[in-house]
Amino acid sequence: MKVKVSRKAHFNAAHRLYRPDWEDAKNSAVFGKCNNPNFHGHNYDLVVSVKGEIDKETGFVIDMKVLKDLIKDKIEDALDHKNLNLEVPEFKDLNPTAENIAVVIWNKLRPHIGASNELEVVLYETPRNFVTYTGG
Ligand code: NI
Repeated sequence: MKVKVSRKAHFNAAHRLYRPDWEDAKNSAVFGKCNNPNFHGHNYDLVVSVKGEIDKETGFVIDMKVLKDLIKDKIEDALDHKNLNLEVPEFKDLNPTAENIAVVIWNKLRPHIGASNELEVVLYETPRNFVTYTGG
């Protein structure tokens, strides 16, 4: 019997989407407002889910306190109020799209989640736009 437990989190961050090897017109056409050279912010909402067997002794799949602290230490402290392009090493050469941010978050958390548990990251860049990454 597997159960999925989830924890919501939030961070604010600035980014710019562009490729230095593309001309300005193409960057603007592909990335639109997110190509603003002066950067801009998003209020990101994050849902991290861990799916696995319920521990017989504790009744937990994962201790929510542990999950909360993990998200704080590994994600919020690394990304909140940061310029993703300039201040977060993972995005030095990687466009900080919602897709890539979700993958980076998953990769940061995965080593700290029990190997027998599944990890899912859902990242909302706006209330209507969100991406899901489950590894693979
Ligand atoms: Ni944007």
